[in-house]
Amino acid sequence: MNHSSSDGLAPDPDSFTVRYYKKDFWSQENLKFARPHFRLEKSARLINKIAGGRSCELLDVGCGPATLQRLLHDNIAYHGIDIAIQEPAPNLIEADFLESPISFDDKKFDIIIAQGVFEYIGTYQEQKFAEISELLKPGGCFIATYVNFGHRDRGIYWPYSNIQQMRVFRGSLSRHFRIDRSFPTSHNWNNSEPNRWLIRAPQMPMKVNIPVISALLAVEYFFICSAAPLG
Ligand SMILES: C[S@@+](CC[C@H](N)C(=O)[O-])C[C@H]1O[C@@H](n2cnc3c(N)ncnc32)[C@H](O)[C@@H]1O
Repeated sequence: MNHSSSDGLAPDPDSFTVRYYKKDFWSQENLKFARPHFRLEKSARLINKIAGGRSCELLDVGCGPATLQRLLHDNIAYHGIDIAIQEPAPNLIEADFLESPISFDDKKFDIIIAQGVFEYIGTYQEQKFAEISELLKPGGCFIATYVNFGHRDRGIYWPYSNIQQMRVFRGSLSRHFRIDRSFPTSHNWNNSEPNRWLIRAPQMPMKVNIPVISALLAVEYFFICSAAPLG
């Protein structure tokens, strides 16, 4: 597990071994993401807006059942990588990105997204940020999400292998990208995406950090990044 004794999150680092889950686990588990969920819908709105009317090449790292593809506008050429592809297609590559560098036929991308992925990446976070930064076209955009482990109702899903406080994740990300914006995916009293329409609807367009409240109630965060300036 990627944590230091100062992160305040680990019960006992010495007794914890990183466990990576492979295709046998994910081919069942990622079916849970076959229907659009709140974060995925919100990320599709963000991407459609970032792309505007431009033709864009997009890479979805840890794409699962490629649900995002269905929510994107036609000007966005979708590509996905995952350890467990559900329905093979020419724009989807099945690969274990912990066994080999993240890549897609030597292509470069205008937009790369990795959502709901870094919590499962064990000690590979810095390496994967570096690989993703190499795949961005000049002026490209990288969107990452990460769970708020400072939530008042913190629950740690058992397959997670990379748990750290938000400031630690942000620090690591900022070594590879310029973070242009970050904001909660949603706020919720319970540590789960909002389900009820009344809570979901107003939060779908929201991109705000609320002092004190966000630290306690943000479920996850979006990070909208661009390539770090040279030097
Ligand atoms: C929590 S799911 C998120 C799916 C999708 N991004 C979403 O937000 O709905 C994590 C995804 O990462 C994929 N994944 C996990 N470990 C992987 C690895 N080592 N290589 C490639 N994909 C992996 C899983 O198969 C799964 O689809």
